[in-house]
Amino acid sequence: MIFGRVKPLDAILATAEKKALHRSLGPVQLTLLGVGAIIGTGIFVLTAAAAQKAGPGMMWSFIIAGAVCAVAALCYSELASMVPVSGSAYTYTYAVVGELLAWMVGWALILEYAVAASAVSVGWSGYFMGLVKSVTGLEIPQMLAAGPTWGLNGWMPTLDFSTGIVNVPAIVVALAVTLLLMIGTTESARVNAVLVAIKVVALTVFIALTLPVLKTGNFSPFTPNGWFGPAGTSGMGVVGAAASIFFAYVGFDAVSTAAEETKNPQRNVPIGLIGSLAICTIFYLLVAAGAVGAMGAQPVAGIDGSVVQPGSAGFTAACQLAANKELLVCSNEALAHVLRQIDWPVVGNALGLAANLALPSVILMMLFGQTRIFFVMARDGLLPEKLASIHPKWKTPHIVTMITGVGVAIAAALLPVGQLADISNSGTLFAFFMVSIAVLVLRVKDPGRHRPFRTPFIWVVAPLSLVGCAALYFNLPLEAMLVLPVWGGIGLILYFAYGYRKSHVGRGIFDVSEPEAYEEIAPSVPGTH
Ligand code: ALA
Repeated sequence: MIFGRVKPLDAILATAEKKALHRSLGPVQLTLLGVGAIIGTGIFVLTAAAAQKAGPGMMWSFIIAGAVCAVAALCYSELASMVPVSGSAYTYTYAVVGELLAWMVGWALILEYAVAASAVSVGWSGYFMGLVKSVTGLEIPQMLAAGPTWGLNGWMPTLDFSTGIVNVPAIVVALAVTLLLMIGTTESARVNAVLVAIKVVALTVFIALTLPVLKTGNFSPFTPNGWFGPAGTSGMGVVGAAASIFFAYVGFDAVSTAAEETKNPQRNVPIGLIGSLAICTIFYLLVAAGAVGAMGAQPVAGIDGSVVQPGSAGFTAACQLAANKELLVCSNEALAHVLRQIDWPVVGNALGLAANLALPSVILMMLFGQTRIFFVMARDGLLPEKLASIHPKWKTPHIVTMITGVGVAIAAALLPVGQLADISNSGTLFAFFMVSIAVLVLRVKDPGRHRPFRTPFIWVVAPLSLVGCAALYFNLPLEAMLVLPVWGGIGLILYFAYGYRKSHVGRGIFDVSEPEAYEEIAPSVPGTH
């Protein structure tokens, strides 16, 4: 029976014990690690897309997305504290609901990590171009600074080159980070702490300069596109914006992947997860209030007066009109733009520089997370082990890193940031959905097992997480929603063509020890040592 292929939890835990990595991280470092992985393109760039979808009502969107993440994080915490090994959602699902679904989750995590790396690269590119223009007056031609726009005509995918052809700066940053990872650079704890400080200072300065000039009139109308957007649109309104801005919270699961290196993970992992999420939610709300209050955040209408998706061809055309150019929703570097508009150009540029310095570390985290997931999947025999071969000198999984990096660069070159974030969200929401199921199944199947952290009110929290993830997923734009089943279908074909036959568990091999080289190359999550 195919659903019977479950990796025994005890075998997984034995691996964790055998590995015995140095446990050095405390609750503060773990929270910093989470904040480092979370704050990125979401708040720095997608605030504009959220405003286009929801107007000032995006403040609700931040609360809704944060609440869904909080309940998902509580479920994550129970599993992360019980199964403190690498592989995050993939490993949890393998142990609880079996190989097929675990493969699907691992496959969906590619969307989460790799596509998120692409989205952050495009976000970086927006800030880079804004900074270059503001400081030197030079402008990179639009055609080389943005990708085309994908859409659907009926059910036929369409491609519109009016928004751009290829995003060169995004390719450059994605490949540069890939190269760093290939030659074995991971971020030290000190560098991570500095970058987190830069991001937090940048957001704090933004809040301090915008809140005092807040105009209450800018908050009205509060929800110009309603809660679900006008009929005939998808992914608009407050809930649509929540589904997109969910991206701003993605990354907190990096904390769970560091469980093996955490002192007293049972206590500290949940603190790290929920602490980092709470800090980010407060920052995001204040930033959103500052942006809306200081310069207004009403959506731009299409040239024919229609409601337009951010990133769509209609939206780009509307934003090219002189009257709309300076609107918040039309900016590729939302926060820097707000500061320039309220007469703080130098601080705006400094914030742009802060984003340029800090966003590559989010790309690095995402790419690293991706290679680690590939590793664990290859270790289980579901992907070819050759993929994970180690470079003799650099001691890195150079092949899988290079393949991932090139894929990330191609996606970053050809898609706008909002669409990439939405696609990434579809994979992440699926993974969180599965984790919430896994935690419930385990409570029923194995109620006696020691749970160092027990999700409080599990029969309320986990169902809320399930409903929340599903609700956000179904409020993504149609194109992004469709990516998940199509991607999942490809994954199923690959599983039955390869993983099903090669799976270690399927062949009765339960030794889940890490390949030696794995320990040598990747003992840590970036930013932990
Ligand atoms: N949460 C991360 C970001 O916003 C992925 O960039």
